[in-house]
Amino acid sequence: MKRIVLLASGSGSNVENIANYFKDNSLVTIASVFTNKRDAKVIDRCNRLNINCLFFNRESFSKSDCLLNIIKSMDPDLIILAGFLLKIPKNFVTAFPKKIVNIHPALLPKYGGKGMYGMHVHNAVKNNNEAETGITIHYVNENYDEGAIIHQAKASVFKEDTPEHIAEKVHALEYEHFPKVIDQILSN
Ligand code: GRF
Repeated sequence: MKRIVLLASGSGSNVENIANYFKDNSLVTIASVFTNKRDAKVIDRCNRLNINCLFFNRESFSKSDCLLNIIKSMDPDLIILAGFLLKIPKNFVTAFPKKIVNIHPALLPKYGGKGMYGMHVHNAVKNNNEAETGITIHYVNENYDEGAIIHQAKASVFKEDTPEHIAEKVHALEYEHFPKVIDQILSN
C-alpha cells in the first residue's frame, strides 16, 4: 500500500481530483491532507469526501520539527503540494529527498519564484503575449519552483484569451495530468 500526504492552502480542486482518481485503487491511500488556512475550501471538500484534513500553523511548519514529525509518523511515499503557498523548509527537503512534488501553473522556468502563484501567473502570461502556457510538475528543493522537472504539458494561448480563460485551460491540464504523474511516480 502506497501512502500519500497532500498539502493545500486554497480551494483544493486538485486534492479532490486526485482523491477521485485513486478512490477505487486499493494500492494507494491518502493518509491525510494538511492545510495552513483555517478557512480554506479544501477543508469542506475533505469533509465531503471523508478524507482526514488537519490544520497546522506556520510556526509548527517553518520554525520547528513539529509538523515534520507528524508527517514522518504517517510514513508517506509521496508528499504532494496541491496549491500550497508556503515555502518548504530545509528540514522537510532533507527528510524527504525526491518525495515532495509540486504542481506549478506555468511552464517553468518561466513565471516561477516567490509571488508567482494563481492569477499572478496567468496575468503575467497574458501581459507578455505568450503563445503558450501550461503546467510543470516537479520535485521540491529549497528554492521556490526550482526542483527537477518531472513532467510538463502545454496549452495554446490566443489573443482573445483573458487571464481567466488561461486559468481554465491550465486547470484542465492539471486535472488531466497530475493524478497520472503521481500514479507513475508511485509505481516506479
Ligand atoms: C493550481 O493552479 C496549482 O497549479 C497551483 O495552485 C492552484 C491550486 O488550485 N499550485 P486548487 O486549490 O487545487 O483548486
